Amino acid sequence: MKTTDYAKIAHKYEKNQYRFDEVKFDDDLKTYIDHNPQSTYQVLDLACGIGIYLENQIKNFDKFDINWYGLDASEEMLSKAKEKLEHVTLLCDLAENLPCENESFDYISNNYAFHHFLNKGAVLDEVYRVLRQNGVYRMHNIAIHNMKNWWVYHYFPTAYEDDLKRFWEKEVIFNELSSRGFEVNLRMEYRLEKVKVSDYLEYAENREISILTLISDQDYQEGLEKMRDEVKINPDKTIVNDFAEMFCISRKM
Ligand SMILES: C[S@@+](CC[C@H](N)C(=O)[O-])C[C@H]1O[C@@H](n2cnc3c(N)ncnc32)[C@H](O)[C@@H]1O
Repeated sequence: MKTTDYAKIAHKYEKNQYRFDEVKFDDDLKTYIDHNPQSTYQVLDLACGIGIYLENQIKNFDKFDINWYGLDASEEMLSKAKEKLEHVTLLCDLAENLPCENESFDYISNNYAFHHFLNKGAVLDEVYRVLRQNGVYRMHNIAIHNMKNWWVYHYFPTAYEDDLKRFWEKEVIFNELSSRGFEVNLRMEYRLEKVKVSDYLEYAENREISILTLISDQDYQEGLEKMRDEVKINPDKTIVNDFAEMFCISRKM
């Protein structure tokens, strides 16, 4: 499986405003807190990147006594996280080998990262090990098997072939978690809509969407030229775009 070098794109990651805009109040964390009243909580954001989730939720949950942790394999991503986060323990390590005691977390979030893990089974074993009983693992990601018409695959078709090698289907995720002793609740959000190509050109040019770093430069340039040409001919050009997100909430039984 190909891997994205985040050392090379950490500086571009913050330029993608979508990554900030899409982070919502974490209702699943609120549900966990409501059902498990405790004086303090230990929350880990696994593969936290530049700290977008943590920055948001720390504000959202400021009424609660939560010790926040972030872990990521990339020092460069973590150094961006450090710039925006205070009072968060940041760890540079692999999700496959967590430097944490057994049963040390109440809640683990994991956003847009599961497809990057080279040994996904080992990550799930580690998540299970470091969660307390009744603790929750929330995996959130795009669901590419329901996104064949995503604008990225429309303009960069080889990206889909590569992504099929990185992403697990939802049934596999469900079964792998269930077989490890999690009670799994997986939900999907899906939308199909026409989008203006010009709105996505900037994202394509930034080339920080991980799959665009993995396709060949030639495939990337061809797709980019096609987008630019189409926008030049018709600035209002639209395409049909589908977008699916998976929220997989797993409780350690
Ligand atoms: C697309 S980014 C997502 C970052 C963040 N969760 C967010 O939502 O913005 C993927 C992140 O996974 C990290 N990553 C990839 N493989 C990893 C691994 N094996 N262990 C820990 N982090 C990893 C990368 O360094 C990168 O920061």
